[in-house]
Amino acid sequence: MSDDRKINELTEAAGRKRIYSAIQPSGQLTLGNYLGALRNFPKLQDEYDCVYCIANMHSLTVRQDPELLRERIYNLLALYLACGLDPEKNVLYLQSQVHEHAELSWILNCYTYIGELSRMTQFKDKSAKHADNINAGLFTYPVLMAADILLYQSDFVPIGRDQKQHLEIARDVADRFNKLYGKTFVVPEPLISKQGARIMSLQEPDKKMSKSDTNAGNFILITEAPETILKKFKKAVTDSEAEVRYDEENKPGVSNLINIYGAVKELTTEQVEETFRGARYGEFKMAVGQAVAETLAPVREKYEALVQDRAYLDKVLAEGREKATVIAAATLRDVYEKVGFVV
Ligand code: TYM
Repeated sequence: MSDDRKINELTEAAGRKRIYSAIQPSGQLTLGNYLGALRNFPKLQDEYDCVYCIANMHSLTVRQDPELLRERIYNLLALYLACGLDPEKNVLYLQSQVHEHAELSWILNCYTYIGELSRMTQFKDKSAKHADNINAGLFTYPVLMAADILLYQSDFVPIGRDQKQHLEIARDVADRFNKLYGKTFVVPEPLISKQGARIMSLQEPDKKMSKSDTNAGNFILITEAPETILKKFKKAVTDSEAEVRYDEENKPGVSNLINIYGAVKELTTEQVEETFRGARYGEFKMAVGQAVAETLAPVREKYEALVQDRAYLDKVLAEGREKATVIAAATLRDVYEKVGFVV
């Protein structure tokens, strides 16, 4: 047994399960990213061994302005910290600074089928949206994501619902590899919160709230000023009824607002309906806007201070890179041995 394999077994023996997740720095993060993923990260840091990545290599699947991408990497790190992630307790690192991601991704490409990748709805959506740039990276995107997760022997992956299909590929590939070569990867499980899992656009509630949306009225940014947040919620699309009732199919706008309020206030759908029984839509929308603005205000304040401090952010990245590399290198070495490379 190699020393690296032993390191991974020792980590497992320490008894703490590992959490892994990543976010792309391809835009300013939205309330969807916050409620679907980010907000859940700090809650896990005391009980689990957590690794959070800035997935900048994934961002290249869509054209990026280099200077802006670099800036957004720092912005995302500042946001991780502003949300309460302690760099002493969590590994916070940049994907491209740990070269094992690219290397394992190549190996896993050889264990993933074209048919599996062709079924990915995100690939279909993104190729429709970027018809002039349907590059190979866009197609093999889930393989890189599988490499991210599997390198760290991750037990649980907190994500929004849109990433569930990608996680299934990671599970299938891990399973396939383990069957061929003996236990190499932990097969990861998704962690998907109930209400924040799929936050929809405020103006077009039949599509997901997305940081790459061109209409700013559709999304709320985590770092947005409270007045803007309130204004956007005031304008959110509802329906011609006047009842705060959950019905995703017939009342997608109102249902989305119920989900947002429930996620922010940690209430069930029924409790939200009860709270706003008899309320007018105007009142309801203001209450949701206020709840969101109040939740995001402290995050924004911390973010604004942290993002100025490049020296500190660089230090966090350097430490994260070192810690991440220890784990990733151990897994990659084991994989190289298993497939028959000379290591
Ligand atoms: P990304 O950067 O698009 O989104 C980051 C996280 O936010 C969640 N999310 C949402 N949740 C609820 N409602 C929404 N409207 C919404 N929009 C986004 C996403 O589900 C995600 O959890 N491929 C990933 C990044 C990634 C990754 C990984 C994730 C790369 N490697 C390994 C987990 C593990 C992505 O593009 O997420």
